[in-house]
Amino acid sequence: MAINRTSSHGEWSSRTAFILAATGSAVGLGNIWKFPYITGENGGGAFVLIYILCVLFIGIPIMLSEVYLGKRGRLNPIASIRYISERENRSKNWQIIGLIGILAGILILSYYSVIAGWTMAYATRTAFGVINNIDALGATKMFNDFVSDPERLLAWHTIFSIITAIVVSKGVKSGLESAVIRLMPALLVLLLALVIFSAIEGDFMNGMKFMLYPDFSQVTWKTILIAMGQAFFSLSLGMGALMVYGSYLSSDISIPQTCVIVASLDTLVALLAGLAIFPIVISAGLEMTQGPGLLFQTLTVAFGAMPGGQLFGTLFFILLIFAAWTSSISLIEPMVIWLIEKFNISRIQAAIISSGTAWLLGIGTIVSFNIGKEIKIFNMNIFEMLDYLTSNILLPMGGIMITIYVSWLISKESIDSELNIRSTILRRIWYLSARIIAPLAVIFVMLNALGFNLTIL
Ligand code: PHE
Repeated sequence: MAINRTSSHGEWSSRTAFILAATGSAVGLGNIWKFPYITGENGGGAFVLIYILCVLFIGIPIMLSEVYLGKRGRLNPIASIRYISERENRSKNWQIIGLIGILAGILILSYYSVIAGWTMAYATRTAFGVINNIDALGATKMFNDFVSDPERLLAWHTIFSIITAIVVSKGVKSGLESAVIRLMPALLVLLLALVIFSAIEGDFMNGMKFMLYPDFSQVTWKTILIAMGQAFFSLSLGMGALMVYGSYLSSDISIPQTCVIVASLDTLVALLAGLAIFPIVISAGLEMTQGPGLLFQTLTVAFGAMPGGQLFGTLFFILLIFAAWTSSISLIEPMVIWLIEKFNISRIQAAIISSGTAWLLGIGTIVSFNIGKEIKIFNMNIFEMLDYLTSNILLPMGGIMITIYVSWLISKESIDSELNIRSTILRRIWYLSARIIAPLAVIFVMLNALGFNLTIL
């Protein structure tokens, strides 16, 4: 069967552009909003250490496999795998990987967009000086009042969804590349400035200690599970996002180097976010275990106290909105390309259908902070359940299938020529991790996920 392999695709203008786009996908609310609060909930240093190990031994090997698939298949995730399977004489059933990815992307986007909406609301509040001189108590109250108002959350969620749909409907090249090239470096600079503020004004020593000193007495199986899920989430793995971006990659670019750079940048941003936030949490007397509100409460206290905080804080939140956008685009892109290629509809129609679906599902997350607080599934509210299902189940499941498919079932010649790892030792390490270490570790995560669910039933 002849497959048109160039239909909805452009190519990145350079290797740097791909690195920026993949970093744009990876760096987002996962690093700046989620990493600090789950680190806070899971005891600090030991969690961070386990997280870094997961990035190194599970994340990076799987990332190589995923980008390989995209670069070779050059279609939407489902069709790419079908195309490769035909050439490698493998079962077409592996397409299910693409389907899981599209589903996971839309489920994640549904709550991601709600939190991005919070960021927009906080950008506006900061710009209008509402948070000037606010204290910890005031910040907590402001956050609680905010999330208990479903209409307000819905309005921001809607605005964010519409903007994402507009950017996505313009196509990846024009929308994404130019935005990321300018905004990512700016976000990094502001984050550094925030760390410096935190070092001067916050309880930096204790903040660092919380984040970097590993206390293994706190570690349970659940801690490891969450750290691993976060590695998938933060690196945008296991759902076809990087597969789609890999499919835009021109064929002369080295996958491994690019992946290591992206993973390092992503981890750097998460660590900086932690370093910026924890010292302030301690000095302001906030709770480490505050959950999803941690970033918003901590930063309002910091921006409220900082000279020039109104301007700086507004800029920071705006850049965070952009980081969330670039991630959202990659969450939705697998579904959009699939709709275009499968049903032959326009990019605009595909963007509207995909973001409309995510928008509708997002209402579940909105109500889990207010009128639907009491709705519990396996003892989790709707938001927690969606997060758990995607980060700890769907993404690892997609990731393990990707790495098994690539490292065991694809001819070595193809892998060796596409991945082009010159050093024999590194090549062996990759095969070992991709074939054995990563899949076993992920299966372990999944079994724990199951065990965890059973205990709370
Ligand atoms: N990695 C993104 C973040 O950290 C979220 C994301 C997950 C994006 C999965 C794409 C795919 O914010």
